[in-house]
Amino acid sequence: MKHLLIVFHSQSGNTERLAQAAAEGARTERELVETRVVLAADAGLGDLLWADAVLFGTPENFGFMSGMLKDFFDRTYYAARGRIRTLPYAVFISAGNDGTGAVRQIERIARGYPLRKVAEPLIATSGVTEEMRSVDPDGSRVPTTDAQLMQAHELGQTLAAGLACGVF
Ligand SMILES: Cc1cc2nc3c(=O)[nH]c(=O)nc-3n(C[C@H](O)[C@H](O)[C@H](O)COP(=O)(O)O)c2cc1C
Repeated sequence: MKHLLIVFHSQSGNTERLAQAAAEGARTERELVETRVVLAADAGLGDLLWADAVLFGTPENFGFMSGMLKDFFDRTYYAARGRIRTLPYAVFISAGNDGTGAVRQIERIARGYPLRKVAEPLIATSGVTEEMRSVDPDGSRVPTTDAQLMQAHELGQTLAAGLACGVF
């Protein structure tokens, strides 16, 4: 049995919906791959030691990954050094209109962690317009679309299938 870990933070539910869709996709391989979904605040070294691959999910906040996901990296970096092999990973981001800042930071951390990117990042933007911002300044009530949930489902399935086939 291989193990896929999904670590995410979500403040207003959008990233959480992506995480759930990714987990559903991953569980299409449930006979060969066990999927564990953990809030970044609750995740720790034990989860990394358990994992054969990791999916990271975060909203983009102020051009960064969320503080809670950064905290997970901060807490586990030294503890994981020398104890985990290079783990295959991918990311999914929920963002009002950008998302690239969060991706860049995670990819930079991944280079030193060690993590190896095995799928392109999924950025689910809600296309917030200025008009929408006037009633919803942080874009947090803009819903994740079905198409984005489908993409997250595919991302989870891709990671799990890669583990199941032993391609990572
Ligand atoms: C404090 C804060 C800062 C944000 N900064 C950005 C940003 O820099 N770029 C962006 O595209 N969206 C930004 N957003 C919008 C969120 O990324 C977006 O609403 C996302 O879907 C929230 O995900 P969540 O529901 O999982 O918390 C911000 C939202 C908040 C609350």
